[in-house]
Amino acid sequence: MVAYTVAVAGGTGGIGCTIVEELVRQGKHKVLILGREATTLPSLSLPVIKANYNDPDALKQLLEAHKVEIVISAIIIYSEGSSKAQLNLIQAASESSTVKKFIPSEYGVKYTPEILAFHPAAQWWLDAAAALRNTRMQFTRIVFGWVLDHYGMPHVKSNMKPVKYALDFDSHQAAIPGDGETPITLLHSVDLAKYIAAMLEQENWPEVSAFVGDRMSWGEMVRVAERVTGEKWNVKYDSIEMLEKGEATLFEQPEGGYTEYPEARQLISEFGLMAVNGIMDVSGEGTRNEEFPWIKPIKVEDLIETAWGKKSPE
Ligand SMILES: NC(=O)c1ccc[n+]([C@@H]2O[C@H](COP(=O)([O-])OP(=O)(O)OC[C@H]3O[C@@H](n4cnc5c(N)ncnc54)[C@H](OP(=O)(O)O)[C@@H]3O)[C@@H](O)[C@H]2O)c1
Repeated sequence: MVAYTVAVAGGTGGIGCTIVEELVRQGKHKVLILGREATTLPSLSLPVIKANYNDPDALKQLLEAHKVEIVISAIIIYSEGSSKAQLNLIQAASESSTVKKFIPSEYGVKYTPEILAFHPAAQWWLDAAAALRNTRMQFTRIVFGWVLDHYGMPHVKSNMKPVKYALDFDSHQAAIPGDGETPITLLHSVDLAKYIAAMLEQENWPEVSAFVGDRMSWGEMVRVAERVTGEKWNVKYDSIEMLEKGEATLFEQPEGGYTEYPEARQLISEFGLMAVNGIMDVSGEGTRNEEFPWIKPIKVEDLIETAWGKKSPE
């Protein structure tokens, strides 16, 4: 086993903190957390090292000073500013004498130029991939579809910010894009972290790493939710025309959720278009699960049963 020095940028966030926790739990690598402020990661009482993402030279010096070999970015990409922060981190890592590998903050669908037609924000992910292709570093874009955590929270532990999308377990309502029968793929953040930890052991990475926890349509998920909760749900279908006009049904969002997105209805309309166009199903890319057979990702039904079934925690 080779031990690396791994820096997790955005390691204070939902995905980032989960990656840090898993790497620390496994105890194989030295883990550093980078953030915009010098603070402490509450769950592990670990220091967060202040990184000035506006200054690639300072970032390069920081990475070299700590002999960082692998950078995992989990910075939330939601604006030109946050995209630029990650691009500066890519530049710094590439110019450093120590960093050999880089995982950009993707953790969603595989963004391609075709998606730009209805989801212009995809440009930020495409820019990061293009920048990485121009470096000497190995990198891999991790895709899995939709984060599964949201359908178990708050009963199943997660560091993710809460989001109500497609299914609302509190009111037993669903707002499904299209006819709801196109499959999507999902993965729990803890399983994502396990796959990332396992990949650190590999010498070579492909450009795209697709992992799938489960694959089912939103309609099937509603049927599972109805069975587990023992109630008929109130289900609405957002037509493709509604999604194209940016008029997806938006649930009232829980406290502590994402505040970065003023255009939430537009954004979830774009996610809806990804679902109906089959883009939220990453299994067509060929998944890498079978390379790590000891990781058994939690299935949708098991998560919903644990969180909302009769024996669920109070
Ligand atoms: N597929 C899905 O369903 C799904 C769901 C959620 C997220 N994601 C993806 O996962 C990634 C991480 O999301 P998340 O929910 O974990 O994010 P998050 O918790 O909202 O934020 C992650 C971290 O980003 C850092 N950050 C915020 N603004 C920044 C800026 N302008 N410059 C530099 N750093 C900044 C913050 O760290 P500091 O304050 O410590 O600097 C924050 O803790 C994103 O790429 C997101 O698109 C995918």
